[in-house]
Amino acid sequence: MTSGACTHLGCVPVGPSQGTVGEFGGWYCPCHGSHYDTSGRIRKGPAPTNLEVPDYEYVSATTIKISL
Ligand code: FES
Repeated sequence: MTSGACTHLGCVPVGPSQGTVGEFGGWYCPCHGSHYDTSGRIRKGPAPTNLEVPDYEYVSATTIKISL
């Protein structure tokens, strides 16, 4: 899981769940053309870093707590 905020200027990239995929099968930020792969790694465009992976912890065998 990654954050849904583009690392360029904070817009919200679109992805497979919105019916749109970037050139690398993941997310695409239409604001300035950043493309991320399915792991959230920046592959093309002005975004300087990968999508952020939030802190998380396993609370139990079936529950994960995600801190945004
Ligand atoms: S805010 Fe995503 S490419 Fe600029």
